[in-house]
Amino acid sequence: MEKQSIVILDFGAQYSQLIARRIREQNVFSVVLPCNASLDEIRSYAPVGIVLSGGPSSVYDPDAPLADDRVFTLGVPVLGICYGLQYMVHTLGGKVSPAAKREYGHAKVEVQDGSRLFRGLPKVLAVWMSHGDEAAQLPTGFRLTASSPNAVAAIENPERSLWAVQFHPEVHHTPLGTDILRNFVLDICGARPNWTAQRFIDETVAQVRQTVGNGRAICALSGGVDSAVAATLVDRALRDGSGKSRLTCVFVDNGVLRKNEFEKVQQNLRDKLGLHLDAVDASARFLSRLKGVTDPETKRKIIGNEFIAVFEEEAHRIAQQEGPVDFLVQGTLYPDVIESRSVRGPSQTIKSHHNVGGLPEKMKLRLVEPLKDLFKDEVRRIGRDLGMPEEILQRQPFPGPGLAVRIVGEVTPERLAILKHADDIVVTEIKRAGLYTKIWQSFAVLLPVMSVGVMGDMRTYAYTCTVRAVHSEDGMTADWVPLPTEVLKTISSRLVNEVKGINRVVYDITSKPPGTIEWE
Ligand code: XMP
Repeated sequence: MEKQSIVILDFGAQYSQLIARRIREQNVFSVVLPCNASLDEIRSYAPVGIVLSGGPSSVYDPDAPLADDRVFTLGVPVLGICYGLQYMVHTLGGKVSPAAKREYGHAKVEVQDGSRLFRGLPKVLAVWMSHGDEAAQLPTGFRLTASSPNAVAAIENPERSLWAVQFHPEVHHTPLGTDILRNFVLDICGARPNWTAQRFIDETVAQVRQTVGNGRAICALSGGVDSAVAATLVDRALRDGSGKSRLTCVFVDNGVLRKNEFEKVQQNLRDKLGLHLDAVDASARFLSRLKGVTDPETKRKIIGNEFIAVFEEEAHRIAQQEGPVDFLVQGTLYPDVIESRSVRGPSQTIKSHHNVGGLPEKMKLRLVEPLKDLFKDEVRRIGRDLGMPEEILQRQPFPGPGLAVRIVGEVTPERLAILKHADDIVVTEIKRAGLYTKIWQSFAVLLPVMSVGVMGDMRTYAYTCTVRAVHSEDGMTADWVPLPTEVLKTISSRLVNEVKGINRVVYDITSKPPGTIEWE
């Protein structure tokens, strides 16, 4: 099947990824490139349409982000959104000026008859606006197609197939926004909706086969969705006729996994999916290195470094037993790729994340990243089509440094045992209430705060457990979840009654920012 895409040029908007997701929901492949991407790079994606995203700048800012003007003459339709509209107007000879009043939030716009972009939509649309500048004078050949009481809301030049909206069709505050994007992508650009999960799987398997050839690959599994789906895809590509795979997956017990997790992950991945799995119990060496350490960043670094050491040892062992290893499979997702190339630059590190960074160079391994074009929800869909168990696909995110960042202060065997038990109770009750897949993360945190309690006739002096539940789209921001009182009651009473060592339960009502999701 021939290649086809919609290319989104990112002018620094927080919503650029969302535009890509909305377009992909139409089964049309879409990529986000920095606004200053070269024409050659844009052409390499075989675009049938281009979207100019929004952005925080004004076209008159001295460092206003620019695209190559020739995108307007590539011969494919172009849709400008917010800053994208202003950029189009400014570049093509119209005039943009600061609005009398910044327009932010819900607005109603009136649509004129006859625009293909608004075909099938009502005359009055509820939309989401967020802009300081506005189009004051349209370039030659353009006409107004929608207006808000305060400003130009949409314009077009159908002869040149240039279209633009001042509002954000990609956000859910614009309820019919998806219809507008669908009109652009399917009708105006004429894209064929053929980007499906099965097609992605077939193409990726073929690509991995070509890249890896007769080589051998290894993959570090975390038990989470991304690494499991990446491994399963690569495994499909690297099995020979007799069913033997040239991919070995390494799963390390770092001592700070959840209750029964080491066994459960093995069951799911080895027994159910048939992956060639090397499960390493390295818990003793991790815990001995963590002894006496209380600083959060130091804990993270110790676990990260130890993990790399264990993984390296395993890789050498595998190479000796099975033959040289050339490739490392990683479950990198598209948001990380966009973030690292964005015009805003990679975001500041708040916490050092634990992964196998640095390993590929050190061990001279080439990277295979089969999910680098996908968003999280797409990864789940692919996993489902690969026949993976829902238990893996629906798993809430779990940090690499595991329970160590949920035990505030020193990680001791006693505290670990308490938290494993507490975490199991919280997750079990959240699942029982039918909330597990509706919540981004829900878990227990153990605080080194002792308080006095009474149980029966006995005075107790024991630890405090915090329950945390958050909603989030991507982990970058999060809102605390008001769990139903009945669920909180059950969790609290089970924690205090069943977990020896906990006599007080508190609920964390901090959102991110200013809090982070994990406590350390
Ligand atoms: P924070 O605590 O920074 O967490 O708000 C944001 C999201 O990232 C997860 N997290 C990690 N994931 N390695 C990971 O793979 C890590 O070191 C790590 N630290 C935090 C966290 O659970 C949340 O989903």
